[in-house]
Amino acid sequence: MPAGRRRRYGRLIVVAGVLALLAACDGGTSQTEGAGSAVQGASGAGSARDAIARDPAGTSSRTGIKPMKIAVSSPGPQAGPAGQPYGEPHGQSRAEVYAQVRRMTALGKQLFFDPSLSGSGKMSCATCHNPDRAFTPANALDVQIGGADLRRPGMRAVPTLKYLQAVPSFAEHYHDSDDEGDESVDAGPTGGLTWDGRVDRGSDQARIPLLSSFEMASTPRKVADAVRAAPYADAFREAFGAHIFDDEDATFKAVLKALETFEQAPEVFYPYTSKYDAYLAGKTPLTAAEMRGLQLFNDEKKGNCASCHISQRAKDGSPPQFSDFGLIALGVPRNRALAVNRDPRFFDLGACGPERTDLGGRAEFCGLFRTPTLRNVALKKTFFHNGIYHSLEDVMRFYARRDTNPEAFYPVVKGKVRKFDDLPRQYWANLNTDAPFDRKPGDAPVFSDAEIKDVIAFLGTLTDGWQPAAH
Ligand code: HEC
Ligand code: HEC
Repeated sequence: MPAGRRRRYGRLIVVAGVLALLAACDGGTSQTEGAGSAVQGASGAGSARDAIARDPAGTSSRTGIKPMKIAVSSPGPQAGPAGQPYGEPHGQSRAEVYAQVRRMTALGKQLFFDPSLSGSGKMSCATCHNPDRAFTPANALDVQIGGADLRRPGMRAVPTLKYLQAVPSFAEHYHDSDDEGDESVDAGPTGGLTWDGRVDRGSDQARIPLLSSFEMASTPRKVADAVRAAPYADAFREAFGAHIFDDEDATFKAVLKALETFEQAPEVFYPYTSKYDAYLAGKTPLTAAEMRGLQLFNDEKKGNCASCHISQRAKDGSPPQFSDFGLIALGVPRNRALAVNRDPRFFDLGACGPERTDLGGRAEFCGLFRTPTLRNVALKKTFFHNGIYHSLEDVMRFYARRDTNPEAFYPVVKGKVRKFDDLPRQYWANLNTDAPFDRKPGDAPVFSDAEIKDVIAFLGTLTDGWQPAAH
Protein backbone atom coordinates (compact mmCIF):
# COMPACT_ATOMS: atom_id res chain seq x y z
CA MET A 1 0.00 0.00 0.00
CA PRO A 2 1.02 3.61 -0.35
CA ALA A 3 3.34 3.98 2.60
CA GLY A 4 5.28 0.84 1.93
CA ARG A 5 5.25 1.22 -1.80
CA ARG A 6 8.36 -0.18 -3.41
CA ARG A 7 9.62 1.66 -6.39
CA ARG A 8 12.49 1.02 -8.71
CA TYR A 9 14.09 2.53 -11.73
CA GLY A 10 13.30 1.64 -15.24
CA ARG A 11 9.73 0.49 -14.99
CA LEU A 12 8.14 -0.54 -18.23
CA ILE A 13 6.50 2.42 -19.76
CA VAL A 14 5.49 1.71 -23.27
CA VAL A 15 5.08 4.37 -25.85
CA ALA A 16 1.74 3.56 -27.38
CA GLY A 17 0.28 6.53 -29.16
CA VAL A 18 -1.43 5.93 -32.38
CA LEU A 19 0.14 2.58 -33.08
CA ALA A 20 -2.12 0.55 -30.81
CA LEU A 21 -5.06 2.42 -32.21
CA LEU A 22 -4.13 1.31 -35.65
CA ALA A 23 -3.38 -2.20 -34.48
CA ALA A 24 -6.86 -2.36 -33.02
CA CYS A 25 -8.54 -1.39 -36.25
CA ASP A 26 -8.59 -4.86 -37.65
CA GLY A 27 -7.46 -6.70 -34.59
CA GLY A 28 -4.43 -7.88 -36.51
CA THR A 29 -0.89 -6.85 -37.10
CA SER A 30 -0.91 -6.48 -40.84
CA GLN A 31 -2.20 -2.93 -40.71
CA THR A 32 -0.02 -2.09 -37.78
CA GLU A 33 3.21 -2.06 -39.69
CA GLY A 34 2.01 -0.08 -42.62
CA ALA A 35 -0.02 2.44 -40.72
CA GLY A 36 2.64 2.67 -38.06
CA SER A 37 5.22 3.67 -40.58
CA ALA A 38 2.85 6.20 -42.05
CA VAL A 39 2.55 7.75 -38.60
CA GLN A 40 6.27 7.66 -38.19
CA GLY A 41 6.80 9.30 -41.49
CA ALA A 42 4.63 12.20 -40.48
CA SER A 43 5.68 12.55 -36.88
CA GLY A 44 9.28 13.57 -37.09
CA ALA A 45 9.78 12.29 -33.55
CA GLY A 46 13.06 10.51 -33.16
CA SER A 47 13.11 8.44 -30.03
CA ALA A 48 9.34 8.00 -29.85
CA ARG A 49 9.48 6.39 -33.25
CA ASP A 50 12.35 4.22 -32.18
CA ALA A 51 10.48 3.09 -29.13
CA ILE A 52 7.38 2.27 -31.12
CA ALA A 53 9.42 0.40 -33.65
CA ARG A 54 11.25 -1.50 -30.96
CA ASP A 55 8.27 -2.92 -29.17
CA PRO A 56 5.11 -2.92 -31.19
CA ALA A 57 3.76 -5.95 -29.34
CA GLY A 58 4.09 -4.37 -25.91
CA THR A 59 2.04 -1.36 -26.80
CA SER A 60 -1.33 -3.00 -26.97
CA SER A 61 -0.96 -4.88 -23.71
CA ARG A 62 -0.10 -1.81 -21.68
CA THR A 63 -1.62 1.38 -22.85
CA GLY A 64 -3.43 0.06 -25.86
CA ILE A 65 -6.68 0.27 -23.97
CA LYS A 66 -6.83 4.00 -24.42
CA PRO A 67 -6.03 4.37 -28.09
CA MET A 68 -7.79 1.17 -29.07
CA LYS A 69 -11.35 2.23 -28.65
CA ILE A 70 -10.93 5.34 -30.73
CA ALA A 71 -10.56 3.18 -33.77
CA VAL A 72 -13.73 1.30 -33.04
CA SER A 73 -15.67 4.51 -33.22
CA SER A 74 -13.97 5.93 -36.21
CA PRO A 75 -15.16 4.57 -39.50
CA GLY A 76 -14.89 7.30 -42.05
CA PRO A 77 -17.52 7.86 -44.69
CA GLN A 78 -15.67 5.43 -46.98
CA ALA A 79 -15.73 2.71 -44.39
CA GLY A 80 -19.00 2.72 -42.53
CA PRO A 81 -22.45 2.69 -44.04
CA ALA A 82 -23.99 6.15 -44.04
CA GLY A 83 -25.88 7.02 -40.90
CA GLN A 84 -23.91 4.55 -38.82
CA PRO A 85 -21.10 6.69 -37.51
CA TYR A 86 -20.33 4.50 -34.49
CA GLY A 87 -20.26 1.07 -36.09
CA GLU A 88 -17.29 -1.26 -36.22
CA PRO A 89 -14.66 -0.53 -38.81
CA HIS A 90 -15.39 -2.40 -41.98
CA GLY A 91 -12.19 -3.67 -43.45
CA GLN A 92 -10.48 -0.33 -43.80
CA SER A 93 -7.22 -0.26 -45.65
CA ARG A 94 -4.12 1.07 -43.95
CA ALA A 95 -4.33 4.28 -45.88
CA GLU A 96 -7.97 4.79 -44.88
CA VAL A 97 -7.23 4.15 -41.21
CA TYR A 98 -4.37 6.56 -41.25
CA ALA A 99 -6.41 9.17 -43.11
CA GLN A 100 -9.11 8.84 -40.47
CA VAL A 101 -6.64 9.35 -37.62
CA ARG A 102 -5.31 12.40 -39.43
CA ARG A 103 -8.79 13.85 -39.89
CA MET A 104 -9.68 13.31 -36.25
CA THR A 105 -6.39 14.78 -35.09
CA ALA A 106 -6.90 17.91 -37.19
CA LEU A 107 -10.46 18.25 -35.93
CA GLY A 108 -9.44 17.64 -32.33
CA LYS A 109 -6.90 20.41 -32.66
CA GLN A 110 -9.51 22.86 -33.89
CA LEU A 111 -11.87 21.87 -31.09
CA PHE A 112 -9.10 22.25 -28.53
CA PHE A 113 -8.62 25.90 -29.47
CA ASP A 114 -12.31 26.74 -30.00
CA PRO A 115 -13.84 28.95 -27.27
CA SER A 116 -17.32 28.67 -28.82
CA LEU A 117 -17.68 25.26 -27.16
CA SER A 118 -17.79 26.93 -23.72
CA GLY A 119 -20.70 28.42 -21.82
CA SER A 120 -19.01 31.82 -21.75
CA GLY A 121 -17.99 31.60 -25.41
CA LYS A 122 -14.57 32.75 -24.25
CA MET A 123 -12.78 29.74 -22.83
CA SER A 124 -11.18 26.90 -24.78
CA CYS A 125 -9.10 23.97 -23.61
CA ALA A 126 -6.06 26.02 -24.61
CA THR A 127 -7.01 28.82 -22.20
CA CYS A 128 -5.80 26.56 -19.40
CA HIS A 129 -3.59 24.25 -21.46
CA ASN A 130 -1.30 26.60 -23.39
CA PRO A 131 0.82 24.77 -25.99
CA ASP A 132 3.76 27.13 -25.42
CA ARG A 133 3.95 25.94 -21.81
CA ALA A 134 3.62 22.21 -22.36
CA PHE A 135 -0.15 22.69 -22.18
CA THR A 136 -0.19 24.37 -18.78
CA PRO A 137 -1.46 27.92 -18.08
CA ALA A 138 0.42 30.99 -19.25
CA ASN A 139 -0.44 32.73 -15.97
CA ALA A 140 0.83 31.86 -12.50
CA LEU A 141 -2.51 31.59 -10.70
CA ASP A 142 -2.77 28.78 -8.15
CA VAL A 143 -5.95 27.58 -9.89
CA GLN A 144 -7.69 28.89 -12.99
CA ILE A 145 -10.91 30.90 -13.13
CA GLY A 146 -13.77 29.66 -15.35
CA GLY A 147 -17.51 29.19 -15.45
CA ALA A 148 -20.25 30.78 -17.54
CA ASP A 149 -19.37 34.21 -16.12
CA LEU A 150 -15.61 33.49 -16.02
CA ARG A 151 -15.56 34.22 -12.30
CA ARG A 152 -15.56 30.79 -10.73
CA PRO A 153 -12.26 29.55 -9.31
CA GLY A 154 -11.20 25.94 -9.70
CA MET A 155 -9.73 23.81 -6.94
CA ARG A 156 -6.70 22.18 -8.55
CA ALA A 157 -3.64 23.31 -10.48
CA VAL A 158 -3.58 22.53 -14.21
CA PRO A 159 -1.38 19.57 -15.16
CA THR A 160 0.60 19.28 -18.40
CA LEU A 161 -1.04 17.31 -21.21
CA LYS A 162 2.28 16.00 -22.50
CA TYR A 163 3.41 12.39 -22.04
CA LEU A 164 -0.02 11.21 -20.92
CA GLN A 165 0.10 8.48 -23.59
CA ALA A 166 2.09 6.37 -21.13
CA VAL A 167 -0.34 6.63 -18.21
CA PRO A 168 -1.81 3.18 -17.58
CA SER A 169 -5.47 2.73 -16.72
CA PHE A 170 -6.13 3.15 -13.02
CA ALA A 171 -5.52 0.04 -10.92
CA GLU A 172 -5.73 -0.32 -7.14
CA HIS A 173 -2.93 -2.87 -7.21
CA TYR A 174 -0.46 -2.36 -9.94
CA HIS A 175 1.90 -5.12 -11.05
CA ASP A 176 4.67 -4.14 -13.35
CA SER A 177 6.53 -6.61 -15.49
CA ASP A 178 9.54 -4.28 -15.51
CA ASP A 179 9.79 -4.35 -11.72
CA GLU A 180 13.04 -6.31 -11.50
CA GLY A 181 11.28 -9.04 -13.39
CA ASP A 182 8.97 -9.67 -10.46
CA GLU A 183 5.36 -9.12 -11.38
CA SER A 184 4.21 -10.13 -7.91
CA VAL A 185 5.42 -6.79 -6.51
CA ASP A 186 2.39 -4.66 -5.71
CA ALA A 187 3.23 -1.08 -6.57
CA GLY A 188 -0.05 0.14 -5.09
CA PRO A 189 -2.63 2.37 -6.74
CA THR A 190 -1.40 3.60 -10.10
CA GLY A 191 -2.58 5.35 -13.22
CA GLY A 192 -5.68 7.03 -14.56
CA LEU A 193 -6.05 10.60 -15.79
CA THR A 194 -6.36 13.75 -13.63
CA TRP A 195 -4.65 14.23 -10.25
CA ASP A 196 -6.80 11.50 -8.69
CA GLY A 197 -6.81 9.04 -11.61
CA ARG A 198 -10.59 9.02 -11.87
CA VAL A 199 -10.93 8.46 -15.62
CA ASP A 200 -8.92 6.28 -17.98
CA ARG A 201 -9.63 7.68 -21.40
CA GLY A 202 -9.03 11.08 -22.92
CA SER A 203 -12.61 11.16 -24.19
CA ASP A 204 -14.04 10.60 -20.70
CA GLN A 205 -11.67 13.21 -19.34
CA ALA A 206 -12.64 15.84 -21.93
CA ARG A 207 -16.24 15.61 -20.76
CA ILE A 208 -15.17 16.92 -17.33
CA PRO A 209 -13.91 20.43 -18.24
CA LEU A 210 -16.55 20.89 -20.95
CA LEU A 211 -19.36 20.36 -18.44
CA SER A 212 -17.74 21.59 -15.20
CA SER A 213 -19.49 24.63 -13.73
CA PHE A 214 -16.13 26.19 -12.85
CA GLU A 215 -14.37 25.37 -16.11
CA MET A 216 -16.00 25.55 -19.55
CA ALA A 217 -19.54 25.36 -18.13
CA SER A 218 -21.08 24.05 -21.34
CA THR A 219 -23.69 21.38 -22.18
CA PRO A 220 -23.72 18.63 -24.82
CA ARG A 221 -26.35 20.64 -26.73
CA LYS A 222 -24.30 23.81 -26.66
CA VAL A 223 -21.22 21.95 -27.81
CA ALA A 224 -23.17 20.29 -30.65
CA ASP A 225 -24.65 23.64 -31.74
CA ALA A 226 -21.21 25.26 -31.70
CA VAL A 227 -19.69 22.53 -33.85
CA ARG A 228 -22.58 22.64 -36.31
CA ALA A 229 -21.96 26.36 -36.74
CA ALA A 230 -18.18 26.12 -36.79
CA PRO A 231 -16.00 26.69 -39.85
CA TYR A 232 -14.90 23.05 -39.51
CA ALA A 233 -18.47 21.63 -39.61
CA ASP A 234 -17.93 20.10 -43.05
CA ALA A 235 -14.70 18.47 -41.96
CA PHE A 236 -16.59 17.12 -38.97
CA ARG A 237 -19.17 15.50 -41.26
CA GLU A 238 -16.41 14.06 -43.38
CA ALA A 239 -14.81 12.44 -40.36
CA PHE A 240 -17.89 11.22 -38.54
CA GLY A 241 -20.48 10.69 -41.25
CA ALA A 242 -22.90 12.87 -43.16
CA HIS A 243 -25.63 12.47 -40.54
CA ILE A 244 -23.54 13.07 -37.46
CA PHE A 245 -25.31 16.35 -36.65
CA ASP A 246 -28.72 14.64 -36.59
CA ASP A 247 -27.99 13.40 -33.09
CA GLU A 248 -26.57 15.87 -30.59
CA ASP A 249 -25.41 13.15 -28.23
CA ALA A 250 -23.49 11.46 -31.04
CA THR A 251 -22.02 14.84 -31.96
CA PHE A 252 -20.88 15.43 -28.38
CA LYS A 253 -19.28 11.98 -28.22
CA ALA A 254 -17.54 12.59 -31.53
CA VAL A 255 -16.13 15.84 -30.11
CA LEU A 256 -14.74 13.93 -27.14
CA LYS A 257 -13.18 11.31 -29.45
CA ALA A 258 -11.59 13.94 -31.65
CA LEU A 259 -10.08 15.67 -28.59
CA GLU A 260 -8.73 12.34 -27.35
CA THR A 261 -7.19 11.60 -30.74
CA PHE A 262 -5.54 15.02 -30.92
CA GLU A 263 -4.04 14.45 -27.46
CA GLN A 264 -2.26 11.40 -28.85
CA ALA A 265 -0.44 13.13 -31.68
CA PRO A 266 3.16 12.06 -31.00
CA GLU A 267 4.87 15.08 -32.55
CA VAL A 268 2.87 17.42 -30.31
CA PHE A 269 2.40 15.49 -27.10
CA TYR A 270 5.35 13.14 -26.80
CA PRO A 271 8.15 14.27 -29.06
CA TYR A 272 11.07 13.30 -26.74
CA THR A 273 13.13 16.26 -27.90
CA SER A 274 14.65 17.33 -24.58
CA LYS A 275 18.34 17.72 -23.91
CA TYR A 276 18.08 14.76 -21.56
CA ASP A 277 16.76 12.60 -24.43
CA ALA A 278 19.72 13.72 -26.52
CA TYR A 279 21.99 12.87 -23.58
CA LEU A 280 20.47 9.38 -23.24
CA ALA A 281 21.00 8.89 -26.96
CA GLY A 282 24.67 9.79 -26.54
CA LYS A 283 24.30 12.93 -28.63
CA THR A 284 25.30 15.52 -26.04
CA PRO A 285 26.95 15.67 -22.62
CA LEU A 286 25.23 17.34 -19.68
CA THR A 287 26.94 20.27 -17.96
CA ALA A 288 28.67 19.61 -14.65
CA ALA A 289 25.76 21.12 -12.70
CA GLU A 290 23.15 19.14 -14.66
CA MET A 291 25.14 15.96 -14.09
CA ARG A 292 25.42 16.60 -10.34
CA GLY A 293 21.67 17.28 -10.31
CA LEU A 294 20.95 14.01 -12.10
CA GLN A 295 23.02 12.11 -9.54
CA LEU A 296 21.23 13.76 -6.61
CA PHE A 297 17.93 13.00 -8.33
CA ASN A 298 18.79 9.31 -8.70
CA ASP A 299 20.64 8.76 -5.42
CA GLU A 300 18.44 6.59 -3.20
CA LYS A 301 19.91 8.17 -0.08
CA LYS A 302 19.54 11.78 -1.29
CA GLY A 303 16.62 12.86 -3.46
CA ASN A 304 15.47 9.34 -4.33
CA CYS A 305 13.37 11.25 -6.85
CA ALA A 306 13.77 8.63 -9.56
CA SER A 307 12.03 6.03 -7.41
CA CYS A 308 8.79 7.76 -8.41
CA HIS A 309 9.87 10.08 -11.24
CA ILE A 310 11.56 7.39 -13.39
CA SER A 311 14.73 8.72 -15.06
CA GLN A 312 16.12 5.71 -16.89
CA ARG A 313 15.06 3.86 -19.99
CA ALA A 314 12.83 0.85 -19.45
CA LYS A 315 14.16 -2.64 -20.14
CA ASP A 316 12.70 -2.52 -23.62
CA GLY A 317 14.65 0.69 -24.25
CA SER A 318 11.67 3.03 -24.28
CA PRO A 319 12.45 6.49 -22.94
CA PRO A 320 11.70 7.40 -19.31
CA GLN A 321 8.45 9.28 -18.60
CA PHE A 322 9.66 10.83 -15.31
CA SER A 323 6.72 9.32 -13.52
CA ASP A 324 5.67 5.81 -12.59
CA PHE A 325 2.14 7.21 -12.36
CA GLY A 326 1.73 5.97 -8.80
CA LEU A 327 -0.81 7.67 -6.54
CA ILE A 328 1.10 8.95 -3.53
CA ALA A 329 0.49 11.09 -0.45
CA LEU A 330 3.25 13.68 0.01
CA GLY A 331 1.50 15.81 2.63
CA VAL A 332 1.61 18.97 0.55
CA PRO A 333 0.64 21.95 2.78
CA ARG A 334 -2.92 23.27 2.63
CA ASN A 335 -3.28 26.13 0.17
CA ARG A 336 -5.25 28.63 2.21
CA ALA A 337 -5.67 30.94 -0.79
CA LEU A 338 -8.07 28.51 -2.50
CA ALA A 339 -11.77 29.38 -2.33
CA VAL A 340 -12.75 25.79 -1.45
CA ASN A 341 -10.40 25.88 1.52
CA ARG A 342 -12.19 28.80 3.15
CA ASP A 343 -14.33 26.07 4.62
CA PRO A 344 -12.09 24.53 7.31
CA ARG A 345 -14.00 21.25 7.02
CA PHE A 346 -13.21 20.91 3.32
CA PHE A 347 -10.32 18.69 2.27
CA ASP A 348 -9.28 17.71 -1.23
CA LEU A 349 -8.37 14.11 -0.45
CA GLY A 350 -7.48 13.12 -4.01
CA ALA A 351 -8.29 9.48 -4.77
CA CYS A 352 -10.86 9.13 -1.96
CA GLY A 353 -12.75 12.26 -2.97
CA PRO A 354 -14.54 14.54 -3.29
CA GLU A 355 -13.88 14.93 -7.06
CA ARG A 356 -13.39 11.20 -7.39
CA THR A 357 -16.36 9.27 -6.04
CA ASP A 358 -15.79 5.54 -6.62
CA LEU A 359 -13.27 5.17 -3.77
CA GLY A 360 -15.13 7.30 -1.23
CA GLY A 361 -14.98 5.81 2.25
CA ARG A 362 -11.81 3.87 1.39
CA ALA A 363 -9.49 5.43 3.94
CA GLU A 364 -6.35 3.98 2.38
CA PHE A 365 -6.85 6.16 -0.70
CA CYS A 366 -7.16 9.48 1.13
CA GLY A 367 -4.52 12.09 0.36
CA LEU A 368 -3.21 10.27 -2.74
CA PHE A 369 -2.49 12.17 -5.94
CA ARG A 370 -0.98 10.82 -9.14
CA THR A 371 2.76 11.41 -9.54
CA PRO A 372 3.11 13.93 -12.39
CA THR A 373 5.72 13.64 -15.13
CA LEU A 374 8.61 16.06 -14.69
CA ARG A 375 9.15 16.41 -18.41
CA ASN A 376 8.76 20.12 -19.24
CA VAL A 377 8.32 20.95 -15.56
CA ALA A 378 10.57 24.00 -15.94
CA LEU A 379 7.89 25.54 -18.20
CA LYS A 380 5.32 25.41 -15.42
CA LYS A 381 4.45 28.34 -13.18
CA THR A 382 2.40 26.51 -10.56
CA PHE A 383 3.22 23.29 -8.76
CA PHE A 384 1.54 20.49 -6.82
CA HIS A 385 -2.14 19.53 -7.01
CA ASN A 386 -3.31 22.56 -5.05
CA GLY A 387 -1.02 25.04 -6.80
CA ILE A 388 0.64 26.14 -3.58
CA TYR A 389 4.13 26.72 -4.99
CA HIS A 390 5.26 28.87 -7.89
CA SER A 391 8.92 28.10 -8.30
CA LEU A 392 10.98 24.95 -8.52
CA GLU A 393 13.11 26.37 -5.68
CA ASP A 394 10.09 26.25 -3.39
CA VAL A 395 9.20 22.72 -4.48
CA MET A 396 12.80 21.58 -3.88
CA ARG A 397 12.92 23.24 -0.47
CA PHE A 398 9.76 21.31 0.44
CA TYR A 399 11.35 18.02 -0.57
CA ALA A 400 14.63 18.89 1.15
CA ARG A 401 13.23 20.16 4.46
CA ARG A 402 9.67 18.98 4.94
CA ASP A 403 10.72 16.75 7.83
CA THR A 404 13.81 18.56 9.08
CA ASN A 405 12.18 22.02 9.25
CA PRO A 406 8.42 21.50 9.11
CA GLU A 407 7.78 24.94 10.61
CA ALA A 408 8.89 26.46 7.29
CA PHE A 409 5.97 24.83 5.44
CA TYR A 410 3.11 24.30 7.88
CA PRO A 411 1.32 26.69 10.24
CA VAL A 412 2.73 27.11 13.73
CA VAL A 413 0.02 27.52 16.35
CA LYS A 414 1.04 28.41 19.92
CA GLY A 415 4.56 27.23 19.25
CA LYS A 416 3.46 23.89 17.79
CA VAL A 417 3.85 22.97 14.14
CA ARG A 418 0.65 21.66 12.54
CA LYS A 419 2.32 19.29 10.13
CA PHE A 420 0.34 17.82 7.22
CA ASP A 421 -2.38 20.42 7.72
CA ASP A 422 -4.21 19.40 4.52
CA LEU A 423 -4.68 15.75 5.52
CA PRO A 424 -6.77 14.74 8.53
CA ARG A 425 -4.74 12.75 11.04
CA GLN A 426 -6.64 9.50 10.53
CA TYR A 427 -5.07 9.27 7.05
CA TRP A 428 -1.46 9.93 8.01
CA ALA A 429 -0.59 6.24 7.65
CA ASN A 430 -0.97 6.84 3.91
CA LEU A 431 1.94 9.31 3.81
CA ASN A 432 5.02 8.13 1.99
CA THR A 433 7.98 7.52 4.33
CA ASP A 434 10.73 6.50 1.91
CA ALA A 435 13.68 8.86 1.25
CA PRO A 436 13.54 11.83 1.00
CA PHE A 437 10.69 11.65 3.54
CA ASP A 438 12.57 9.63 6.13
CA ARG A 439 14.09 12.47 8.21
CA LYS A 440 13.25 14.24 11.44
CA PRO A 441 13.97 17.63 13.00
CA GLY A 442 17.67 17.89 13.80
CA ASP A 443 18.73 15.82 10.78
CA ALA A 444 20.52 17.53 7.93
CA PRO A 445 18.19 18.61 5.10
CA VAL A 446 18.19 16.24 2.14
CA PHE A 447 19.70 18.91 -0.13
CA SER A 448 21.88 21.96 0.54
CA ASP A 449 20.98 25.16 -1.30
CA ALA A 450 23.74 24.46 -3.82
CA GLU A 451 22.38 20.95 -4.40
CA ILE A 452 18.90 22.38 -4.94
CA LYS A 453 20.38 24.55 -7.71
CA ASP A 454 21.93 21.48 -9.31
CA VAL A 455 18.70 19.49 -9.24
CA ILE A 456 16.87 22.43 -10.82
CA ALA A 457 19.57 22.65 -13.50
CA PHE A 458 18.95 18.98 -14.21
CA LEU A 459 15.16 19.46 -14.34
CA GLY A 460 15.81 22.12 -16.99
CA THR A 461 17.17 19.40 -19.29
CA LEU A 462 13.70 17.84 -19.46
CA THR A 463 12.19 20.61 -21.58
CA ASP A 464 11.24 19.59 -25.12
CA GLY A 465 12.54 21.43 -28.15
CA TRP A 466 16.22 21.42 -27.26
CA GLN A 467 18.50 22.39 -30.15
CA PRO A 468 22.18 21.51 -30.12
CA ALA A 469 23.04 24.68 -32.03
CA ALA A 470 21.58 26.90 -29.33
CA HIS A 471 23.96 25.55 -26.68
C1 HEC B 1 -10.43 26.17 -16.49
C2 HEC B 1 -9.20 25.49 -16.81
C3 HEC B 1 -9.27 24.24 -17.68
C4 HEC B 1 -9.86 24.11 -18.92
C5 HEC B 1 -10.63 25.13 -19.71
C6 HEC B 1 -9.55 22.76 -19.34
N1 HEC B 1 -8.80 22.11 -18.40
FE1 HEC B 1 -7.98 20.26 -18.57
N2 HEC B 1 -7.43 20.34 -16.64
C7 HEC B 1 -7.61 21.40 -15.79
C8 HEC B 1 -7.36 20.99 -14.42
C9 HEC B 1 -7.44 21.87 -13.18
C10 HEC B 1 -7.05 19.62 -14.47
C11 HEC B 1 -6.81 18.70 -13.27
C12 HEC B 1 -8.20 18.24 -12.85
C13 HEC B 1 -8.25 17.29 -11.70
O1 HEC B 1 -7.25 16.71 -11.29
O2 HEC B 1 -9.37 17.10 -11.17
C14 HEC B 1 -7.08 19.24 -15.89
C15 HEC B 1 -6.78 17.97 -16.36
C16 HEC B 1 -6.80 17.61 -17.70
C17 HEC B 1 -6.35 16.34 -18.22
C18 HEC B 1 -5.72 15.21 -17.42
C19 HEC B 1 -4.24 15.45 -17.25
C20 HEC B 1 -3.56 14.42 -16.40
O3 HEC B 1 -2.45 14.68 -15.93
O4 HEC B 1 -4.11 13.34 -16.19
C21 HEC B 1 -6.58 16.36 -19.57
C22 HEC B 1 -6.26 15.25 -20.55
C23 HEC B 1 -7.20 17.63 -19.88
N3 HEC B 1 -7.29 18.37 -18.73
C24 HEC B 1 -7.66 18.00 -21.12
C25 HEC B 1 -8.50 19.11 -21.32
C26 HEC B 1 -9.30 19.31 -22.52
C27 HEC B 1 -9.34 18.40 -23.71
C28 HEC B 1 -9.97 20.49 -22.34
C29 HEC B 1 -11.00 21.13 -23.25
C30 HEC B 1 -12.17 20.31 -23.54
C31 HEC B 1 -9.57 21.00 -21.04
N4 HEC B 1 -8.70 20.13 -20.46
C32 HEC B 1 -9.99 22.22 -20.54
C33 HEC B 1 -7.98 22.68 -16.17
C34 HEC B 1 -8.63 22.98 -17.35
C1 HEC C 1 7.27 8.80 -3.30
C2 HEC C 1 7.13 9.31 -4.65
C3 HEC C 1 7.85 10.61 -4.98
C4 HEC C 1 9.17 10.94 -4.75
C5 HEC C 1 10.24 10.11 -4.05
C6 HEC C 1 9.36 12.24 -5.32
N1 HEC C 1 8.20 12.71 -5.85
FE1 HEC C 1 7.94 14.46 -6.81
N2 HEC C 1 5.96 14.16 -6.84
C7 HEC C 1 5.31 13.03 -6.40
C8 HEC C 1 3.89 13.28 -6.33
C9 HEC C 1 2.83 12.28 -5.89
C10 HEC C 1 3.71 14.61 -6.72
C11 HEC C 1 2.36 15.38 -6.71
C12 HEC C 1 2.03 15.67 -5.25
C13 HEC C 1 0.81 16.54 -5.05
O1 HEC C 1 0.58 17.47 -5.81
O2 HEC C 1 0.09 16.27 -4.05
C14 HEC C 1 5.02 15.13 -7.05
C15 HEC C 1 5.26 16.41 -7.55
C16 HEC C 1 6.51 16.89 -7.91
C17 HEC C 1 6.75 18.16 -8.55
C18 HEC C 1 5.68 19.17 -8.99
C19 HEC C 1 5.26 18.84 -10.40
C20 HEC C 1 4.02 19.56 -10.87
O3 HEC C 1 3.75 19.48 -12.07
O4 HEC C 1 3.30 20.16 -10.06
C21 HEC C 1 8.10 18.27 -8.74
C22 HEC C 1 8.85 19.42 -9.40
C23 HEC C 1 8.70 17.08 -8.19
N3 HEC C 1 7.69 16.26 -7.72
C24 HEC C 1 10.05 16.81 -8.17
C25 HEC C 1 10.60 15.81 -7.36
C26 HEC C 1 12.00 15.75 -7.01
C27 HEC C 1 13.08 16.67 -7.51
C28 HEC C 1 12.12 14.69 -6.16
C29 HEC C 1 13.35 14.25 -5.39
C30 HEC C 1 13.85 15.23 -4.45
C31 HEC C 1 10.83 14.07 -6.03
N4 HEC C 1 9.93 14.79 -6.76
C32 HEC C 1 10.57 12.92 -5.29
C33 HEC C 1 5.93 11.84 -6.06
C34 HEC C 1 7.25 11.74 -5.67
